[in-house]
Amino acid sequence: MQLLNGTACSQQIRQEIALEVEAIVAAGKRPPHLAAVLVGDDGASQNYVGMKVRDCEEVGFGSTTVRMKASTTEAELLAKIDELNSNDAIDGFIVQLPLPSQINENNVILAIDPTKDVDGFCPENVGNLSLGLPTFVSATPNGIIELLRRYEIETEGKHCVVLGRSNIVGTPIAVLMSRNTNPGNATVTLAHSRTKNLKKLCASADILIVAIGRTEFVTADMVKDGAVVFDVGQTRVSDNTRKSGFRNVGDVDFEQVKDKCSYITFVTGGVGPMTRASLLQNTLKAYQRR
Ligand code: GUN
Repeated sequence: MQLLNGTACSQQIRQEIALEVEAIVAAGKRPPHLAAVLVGDDGASQNYVGMKVRDCEEVGFGSTTVRMKASTTEAELLAKIDELNSNDAIDGFIVQLPLPSQINENNVILAIDPTKDVDGFCPENVGNLSLGLPTFVSATPNGIIELLRRYEIETEGKHCVVLGRSNIVGTPIAVLMSRNTNPGNATVTLAHSRTKNLKKLCASADILIVAIGRTEFVTADMVKDGAVVFDVGQTRVSDNTRKSGFRNVGDVDFEQVKDKCSYITFVTGGVGPMTRASLLQNTLKAYQRR
């Protein structure tokens, strides 16, 4: 079994981006700038946004965190998005999800200028992805593709089972894995809560991508010998032995599954850092396009 080291890979990507930023600044231009909107005080979201901002500092990007209270109305958030859309100093921005229940996520996504939508969530960017046109590929699927590319894992003709059909991960990674590209050219099954014979289906996967948000859902009997397994899930569970009071648990029972795999990601240091690196890549792309 080889662990897919997202920390090391993302470090490489950050170094590549930092060099590009150095060249931009040396040419007398301003560096790329990412803004992140954080609504409410969800601990995990605060943590994710904090890490995204630190990543920006590390590569030399400018960054802005826009904090809005948990009681923010949809109209207030849409007004903030308008402001960010028309602010020329900001190349791209994200609105961290999930949002408080009074705000309709789709209305928010629809309000973001597609040229600044570095999450790749807008209809135009999702449509471009489906058509194989240049776009902002959403960060987690892009991170998985980068890991496959950098570890030179063969995907052509393989059976890839994607567990979970979210707009953020499951659906776009299914599209990317089935495209006529490398990585890609896989035969993809997109499985979800209504899928029959799930265990048998997963056990037939050469590549298993798990993004369903159910802790340790994938057990050894669901994994084929030699499979490549990506665990996208990250759920906080309380753990009094930790200083933070919690630990992150993935969707895959890592201890049970790891020895059956040719490659596997761990819940920390796997897909997460690659997601953040992809956001930096998209922000650089947004800057270069402007
Ligand atoms: N919440 C979980 N993942 C993501 C992501 O990639 N982008 C945003 N904006 N919110 C998220």
